[in-house]
Amino acid sequence: MLTNKLGVTNQVELARVEEKISKSNAKKLYDSGNIDKLEVGTFKGLADIHRYLFSDISDFAGEIRMVNIDKGNFRFAPVMYLNVSLDHIDQMPQSTIDEIVVKYVEMNIAHPFREGNGRSTRIWLYLILKQ
Ligand SMILES: Nc1ncnc2c1ncn2[C@@H]1O[C@H](COP(=O)(O)OP(=O)(O)O)[C@@H](O)[C@H]1O
Ligand SMILES: [Mg+2]
Repeated sequence: MLTNKLGVTNQVELARVEEKISKSNAKKLYDSGNIDKLEVGTFKGLADIHRYLFSDISDFAGEIRMVNIDKGNFRFAPVMYLNVSLDHIDQMPQSTIDEIVVKYVEMNIAHPFREGNGRSTRIWLYLILKQ
């Protein structure tokens, strides 16, 4: 379990509270219009989304992870190559659906944060598609 700002030590309770807060923050991001001020298709834009969703919950909101992580049998980008990978993704084109899919997959492989990559990267994808 990750350290959190809520003082919650029960894993199930933490998941419940964390879901509620991050969903509420996501709604605020849309409703406030702040979503339209974000940079589209860059790591900076994604980090701003992540910070918006999770800064009430985690000290690591918007911060690049310092540890290697995996899910199932898949290892995400090693910390060693994360910065160079994110710089590369920033430069990737996003004009066609095919380009956007490839770019989204690359960002999923980068998985820059310790937690909350799925939630923040889907909002990031939405903004690219909208543009
Ligand atoms: N085996 C896998 N290989 C690659 N990507 C995966 C795999 N399992 C899950 N994912 C991706 O990782 C996301 C979950 O990452 P995580 O950091 O836990 O985000 P969140 O906490 O928002 O769910 C999923 O939404 C999916 O996009
Ligand atoms: Mg998760």
